[in-house]
Amino acid sequence: MNKSYHITTFGCQMNEHDSEVIAGMLSELGYEESKERKDAGIVIINTCSVRENADKRFFGTLGQLKRRKEEGDDFLMCVCGCMMQQQHIIDTIKQKYPWVDIIFGTHNIHEFPKLVENVIAEKKKITDVWEDGGEIIEGLPSKRLYKHKSYVNIMYGCNNFCTYCIVPYTRGRERSRKPEEIVREIEALSADGVKEVMLLGQNVNSYKGEHEDGSGIADFTDLIYMVSEIEGIERIRFMTSHPKDLSDKLIEAFKNCSKLCKSLHLPVQAGSSDVLKRMNRKYTKEEYLALVEKLRAAVPEISLTTDIIVGFPGETEEDFAETIDLCRKVKYDSAFTFLYSIRKGTPAEKYEDQIPEEIKHRRFNELVEVINAGSAEKNAAYVGRTERVLVEGVSKREQAGKIEKPQPGLINLSGRTDTFKLVNFAGTKDMIGNFADVEITSSNTFSLVGRIKK
Ligand code: SAH
Ligand code: SF4
Ligand code: F3S
Repeated sequence: MNKSYHITTFGCQMNEHDSEVIAGMLSELGYEESKERKDAGIVIINTCSVRENADKRFFGTLGQLKRRKEEGDDFLMCVCGCMMQQQHIIDTIKQKYPWVDIIFGTHNIHEFPKLVENVIAEKKKITDVWEDGGEIIEGLPSKRLYKHKSYVNIMYGCNNFCTYCIVPYTRGRERSRKPEEIVREIEALSADGVKEVMLLGQNVNSYKGEHEDGSGIADFTDLIYMVSEIEGIERIRFMTSHPKDLSDKLIEAFKNCSKLCKSLHLPVQAGSSDVLKRMNRKYTKEEYLALVEKLRAAVPEISLTTDIIVGFPGETEEDFAETIDLCRKVKYDSAFTFLYSIRKGTPAEKYEDQIPEEIKHRRFNELVEVINAGSAEKNAAYVGRTERVLVEGVSKREQAGKIEKPQPGLINLSGRTDTFKLVNFAGTKDMIGNFADVEITSSNTFSLVGRIKK
């Protein structure tokens, strides 16, 4: 049999990391990664369900694979991820795509090797999706995307039930890993060359990890201090923080812990306190603004990013004006903006006054202009400064053939500042994975340009 695999990943960092684990398990079974989906013996699609177009892209991709099956190609078709945690999706797959071989969910990823072996041995199809995650499975292998940086899950699930969001239904209730397990994983990563870790959770501020020795509970800031003790780890980032739970203790950590990067993703979702209430976000516009002020007073150089939804059911022009006002006041370094998308089974699905598409789009465009103006202004302030950049690799634009190679012997590289700004500059291959001092020479809306400081 063709012992190669190809994974397509939709969605957030959680899914990206799950795909790294799936790749790790398949490597242990002796499978190799195939660059092209069409050549792979095992094809996996790891799905996201956060908005309707994520669902659509999945079905589009699956449709493309139908012909390969019809032509009698003998490959295993596997689908997993957040969409599979919903019965109506599984029903659709079984009805319209009966040639899918394995369906599994977000709670039983560790079972995947067993499912593959069963399907191969017994030549049958398997649907194995667990309702909810109980225990946390430790020690799973993982095949990292980058050599020098890594995702690390610190907790799973979400208890917040924002009324628009599907995640609590697809990822189950919150559960935290033990801090010592996390530290051991990061020590091993450090020994393998990792310099930067991104601690992942849907709401990291509510992390509560039980110490192994029974001495109590570590909260998120305790965990950050524990991770900062690990030799070789030079940068700590995290995602995502819920404004309602951001503690003073964490704000202090930004000041006291030099390894904790000065950048924070703090999703606001909307600027109107009324909309925030109906979203079940548990803070008001004023409370959010006060939090930002407190953060910036404590850590003036911190960069702030956010997520915003436009067109939530019942959003009036006045509500939307509050969002614009908030964005002008905060001036985010950047923001992900989304059109509200109805998700089956969430409370907001039933809300009256769904907003017509054209109004959503108009508001969206207006918002993006305000956000981009803020981003450009924030980036312009970097020009003339020298930044310590962790070099990530050859710049995407060079990879895509969009820009010329610089002088002979040099390549276009990109990396990130402590504040997570993307910097493009010319350098040499050996810089990849290391830190470099880069002088910022110009700025764009979404990135900075610089040159290596001699
Ligand atoms: N746990 C994270 C993010 C989860 S999903 C948090 O709480 O911030 C990522 C983003 O997708 C959310 O922040 C939200 O802005 C957006 N999102 C979630 N559900 C959505 C929906 N139904 N329609 C549009 N955007 C949505
Ligand atoms: Fe979704 Fe809200 Fe949980 Fe984030 S905090 S995953 S937006 S329910
Ligand atoms: Fe992530 Fe999408 Fe699931 S955003 S948690 S992969 S629904």
